[in-house]
Amino acid sequence: MKKEQIQENGISRRGFLKRTALAGAAICIAPALEKVTAAEKAITGKSSVSAATIPAGMAAVRAQRTLSSGKAAFTISAMGFGCMGLNHHRSQSPDEKTCIRLIHEAIERGVTLFDTAESYGYHKNEKLVGEALKGYTDRVFVSSKFGHKFVNGVQVKTEEDSTPTNIRRVCENSLRNLGVETLGIFYQHRVDPATPIEVVAETCGELIREGKILHWGMCEVNAETIRRAHKVCPVTAIQSEYHFMHRAVEENGVLALCEELGIGFVPYSPLNRGFLGGMINEYTRFDTANDNRQTLPRFQPEAIRANTRIVEVLNAFGRTRGITTAQVALAWLLNRRPFIVPIPGTTKLSHLEENLRACDIVFTSEEVTELEKAVAAIPVVGSRYDALQESKIQK
Ligand SMILES: NC(=O)c1ccc[n+]([C@@H]2O[C@H](COP(=O)([O-])OP(=O)(O)OC[C@H]3O[C@@H](n4cnc5c(N)ncnc54)[C@H](OP(=O)(O)O)[C@@H]3O)[C@@H](O)[C@H]2O)c1
Repeated sequence: MKKEQIQENGISRRGFLKRTALAGAAICIAPALEKVTAAEKAITGKSSVSAATIPAGMAAVRAQRTLSSGKAAFTISAMGFGCMGLNHHRSQSPDEKTCIRLIHEAIERGVTLFDTAESYGYHKNEKLVGEALKGYTDRVFVSSKFGHKFVNGVQVKTEEDSTPTNIRRVCENSLRNLGVETLGIFYQHRVDPATPIEVVAETCGELIREGKILHWGMCEVNAETIRRAHKVCPVTAIQSEYHFMHRAVEENGVLALCEELGIGFVPYSPLNRGFLGGMINEYTRFDTANDNRQTLPRFQPEAIRANTRIVEVLNAFGRTRGITTAQVALAWLLNRRPFIVPIPGTTKLSHLEENLRACDIVFTSEEVTELEKAVAAIPVVGSRYDALQESKIQK
């Protein structure tokens, strides 16, 4: 991409020069990665961690995928890293050094998209990711999210706030917490019934022109909202829950609309919050101070007991192919559409490696049919969210 095109995209000359300088610094810090990587990201808005720089045999993501097209196009690793669970809502939280090391391992293994949000521990997760990305920010992208309402750091769970003032406030905080000049994608976390989506889209468009965000997206919105928003400012990705036990985006037309409009799709909680990894059973105890799964109907012991039959289907399918249940779940998503980029989270290198290896797994259409048929035969027990959380989801 030429410099004029960068300016057309709203990235200032000052930002460009600063980024290019930082790119040089990044090259010195970690020579293991290709030298062009940082500079190329600064110039093109694309990260180019190349498969050629990753040692052969290492569990890694070597493929890239492009979410959306034209000015909204965003090329990133075919699998991202969901950072939330490193220190928020997933029980075990390793010490900061371990989390940082894990993020560095993900970068070395080709991951170029790291997902966080203002609300994950109210800045706590963003700050951790910011620490981890020091020296790496010109080589990878971070997505963050706005829209939950906070008063003095405490979430007002009955309301959302996507007013332009709040979007801008969150953006500034996120940039500071993460230590980046530009966010890769800035998502609306949940719709705000009091703020028309056109106003949200317009505000995100302004942030793009100002060079504060590269792209924008929305979470858990319906097809009508996506159409309206996309008309005002092209949407790069929809981030909603999608996995074997929650296929709403296939039923409500969202996935089909993404395909029609050329918008990317980022499935969150792609392992159903760990359940499809096969390490949770009815006796699993979640940390009462740091895990929202204990409040979710689908994670009550009776539901877990019933739903374990689904994990067993994945296990039976994977056993003969030498792949784990988590790999079956992630590979299925990756095989669904070429514009899908899942963002599983983990606190463990072994799981990171296992998950990234799913990027190399290709299913035949017969295998997909067999798998889907077997899973569909088992009714899912328990809803994914409680009533208040579910009321925030657009149908
Ligand atoms: N937009 C939204 O509204 C929204 C909502 C929720 C989440 N998110 C995003 O999505 C990301 C991922 O979501 P998530 O953490 O809810 O769910 P997830 O990725 O489906 O599951 C994470 C859990 O799975 C376990 N796990 C990971 N790999 C595994 C493997 N190979 N085998 C067995 N267990 C494995 C992890 O435990 P270990 O640490 O033991 O590996 C962790 O507890 C978040 O980090 C966040 O960025 C977005």
